[in-house]
Amino acid sequence: MSDLQIISVALGNRSYDIEVGAENLEHIGSFLTTFQPISTAVILTDENVIQHGYAHRVAESIAETGIDVHLLSIAAGEQSKTIETATTLWETLLEEGIDRKSVLISVGGGVVGDLGGFIAATYARGIRFFQVPTTLLAQVDSSVGGKVGIDLPKAKNMVGAFLQPLGVLIDTKTLQTLPENQYRSGLGEVVKYGVSLDAKLFQFLEANIEKINIRHVEILKQIIADCCRIKAQIVAEDEFETAGRRVLLNYGHTFAHAFEIQSHFTLLHGLAVSIGSICAARLAVRAGLVNEIFLKRQIRLHQALGLPTEMPDGVDRKQTIELMRHDKKTEFGKLRFILPTDIGSCRLVDDVDLRLLECEL
Ligand code: GLY
Repeated sequence: MSDLQIISVALGNRSYDIEVGAENLEHIGSFLTTFQPISTAVILTDENVIQHGYAHRVAESIAETGIDVHLLSIAAGEQSKTIETATTLWETLLEEGIDRKSVLISVGGGVVGDLGGFIAATYARGIRFFQVPTTLLAQVDSSVGGKVGIDLPKAKNMVGAFLQPLGVLIDTKTLQTLPENQYRSGLGEVVKYGVSLDAKLFQFLEANIEKINIRHVEILKQIIADCCRIKAQIVAEDEFETAGRRVLLNYGHTFAHAFEIQSHFTLLHGLAVSIGSICAARLAVRAGLVNEIFLKRQIRLHQALGLPTEMPDGVDRKQTIELMRHDKKTEFGKLRFILPTDIGSCRLVDDVDLRLLECEL
């Protein structure tokens, strides 16, 4: 096993560690035993992750510690993040005698993480939860910070809760089997951190394009640890996204959610974020917040990393604006956007002139 990086999310008695390594999946057993007593470990995974053996490796490592393990698998994809799947899972947990001393461990991508966390937050009024993210998107974003939930047909992640995990274990080796489009989707979120929150990360990405494109393990470990550090800091400052900086993690997301819904969730989240953040950057140029040089530099990085920059086919202008009105960031009926002000910085803007937006779409 190569060196591990440990990042702490400082949240008082709900603080936890994120372990970032390579070939460290088998570490899960000893990581979990620090949270004994545990009556049962319920592993939630999906049919793709099962195929690569990751969920079984996690199960074996936990079983070696003497903890009883149950393995549940759902269909892969955003279509599973529904109340119907949640109901099936609640009923299964009940049938299998899962009690409040159990821990639910999500092994997989964002869907398994968000849905697993939602089940853990609600079953028996709450059981403990652990994240083992196996996609780049989940490793850099969705597994950290405690946002869990399911989708409504017209609004992604609209029903949910905040439930911080006991810990997050990231094995970057799992990225070697990730399909190309899923990998690029994760890079959409990585670039988001650089453009909107951390100029050093942005420069690091620009300087390491070839290595990123061939999934160089050590470079990825560094990038993932950096993204987790940025997110951990923001979550510690503003856990519930109230008056603080957490909303800034949503650069490109107001547009992205509207695109995802119109594609019936066939457009992967990080790819939607990639396009959405270019739309936000163009809007920022029109609003006079950044110049064309900024925009070109961002587009260059997206293109070098194989990320989309143009509006997806089938997107309707009016419907996009309508869907954006339902975004969770909307307050008092006002559309709110995270717009860049420079490389590595951004701000929340809630007085965007709708005419600028219409030019944009
Ligand atoms: N993905 C944004 C957040 O966790 O706040």
